[in-house]
Amino acid sequence: MNNDNQKVIIVCGTTTEMLKADSIIRDNHIEVDLVPTPSQYGSICSTSIALEEVNKITAERILEKIKIKYNIYPYRVRKLLGLMESLKKAKLSTAFQVIMNKIEMGHELTKDDIVVLLNTEEPKEIETLYSVADRLRKEIVGDIVEIRGAIEFSNYCKKSCNYCGIRKGCDLPHRYRMDEDEIMEAVHQLVEMGIRTVILQSGEDDYYDTEMLCGLLKKIKKVTKMGITLSIGERSRFDYLLLREAGANNFLLKIETTNRKIFESIHPDNDYDQRIQCAKWLKELGYVNGSGNMIGLPGQKIEDIAEDILYFKEMGIHMIGIGPFIPAPGTPYEDLPTGSVEMTLKAIAVTRIVCKNVFLPATTALASIDPDGQRKALEVGANTIMLISTPEKYRTSYQLYKNKNMIDIESALEAVKNSNRKLPKYLKLPNKEGIQ
Ligand code: 5AD
Repeated sequence: MNNDNQKVIIVCGTTTEMLKADSIIRDNHIEVDLVPTPSQYGSICSTSIALEEVNKITAERILEKIKIKYNIYPYRVRKLLGLMESLKKAKLSTAFQVIMNKIEMGHELTKDDIVVLLNTEEPKEIETLYSVADRLRKEIVGDIVEIRGAIEFSNYCKKSCNYCGIRKGCDLPHRYRMDEDEIMEAVHQLVEMGIRTVILQSGEDDYYDTEMLCGLLKKIKKVTKMGITLSIGERSRFDYLLLREAGANNFLLKIETTNRKIFESIHPDNDYDQRIQCAKWLKELGYVNGSGNMIGLPGQKIEDIAEDILYFKEMGIHMIGIGPFIPAPGTPYEDLPTGSVEMTLKAIAVTRIVCKNVFLPATTALASIDPDGQRKALEVGANTIMLISTPEKYRTSYQLYKNKNMIDIESALEAVKNSNRKLPKYLKLPNKEGIQ
């Protein structure tokens, strides 16, 4: 769709209705995009349909014919009024000021704009970038930090991604698989803490076939009613469909980099187009889609990171995990340099500015190379923390990279407190001095 044309946004009551509406409007040859619902019109989890205003009446007729309930709104841009005024005294380059003006007016940023923001080394400009992202974060998603729990249920993997510490080629001292009872026990611990979303993550391990996973998902749903995020890598469209029907709500499948050459060189057994295809299937099937990238991959340029951010926006990704690359012992990349904390923070900030109403986690990778990384991320646009909720006896065997930080509730609370943010009401915490 042409970015300059006036757009409208269709918000349906349920995901099923939204998917039905999306497909029938497309069948009528109207160009549409599935996008995270702007915060004025819906929650951070919901997806809506964007289309050009010239097609509004036709789309309305189509939806009325099939009796789908919907609301239609102008796709209003989010302005940051007063921004330029507040920057009057700051010493900023002209290029940087032009971009700040665009942000104030709610105009879309181009790849070149994003490159300027990521490239700047000027302390005043970096500070400005961070504070703009923080202001947008506050206005769009508020002060509450979403807390989720990740259960890493298997470190077996059939793939040999060059960066990853649990790749097939790694001679790990301990490979493990959690059985259903162990997983349920870890899930119950999250329920006791009041946590509402569980992330089930593993290597690409076919031992857990779709039938087995569906059984697990149904059980979790029935017993806990929790939101379920799967992070189990590439599978077939049919598998994704069955998993969705069995209760999976979200799916985290990172692109890692949108640079095809780099993608292919770091993933010896993956195909770039297939990864994109999987992400598209997930979206079509009504998953809330997660993606993300690594900062500091071999050969990666700032332009590549800018493309990643535009990809997240264009694909309508809701959950975007941005972390530094960290060399993992025993992998082909063990001697490569670690990605930069500052570039990771800049990428988080720009992603908040560009993608708006999305979940941006303060990633484990960032916390692993900077003990204060989570607070820093929360202060430049991030709004989510994922706890490592894998049972202790397995935790250390899920070493994706060296010195992985085992984010626990205490460190999460500390980061929330130090960034002056709020805990979600659903958390049930033991009263600990200095924390609550
Ligand atoms: N450095 C940083 N992040 C890594 N991941 C895996 N290996 C590394 C590494 N060496 C991240 C990837 C993957 C997620 C589960 O962990 O982004 O998608």
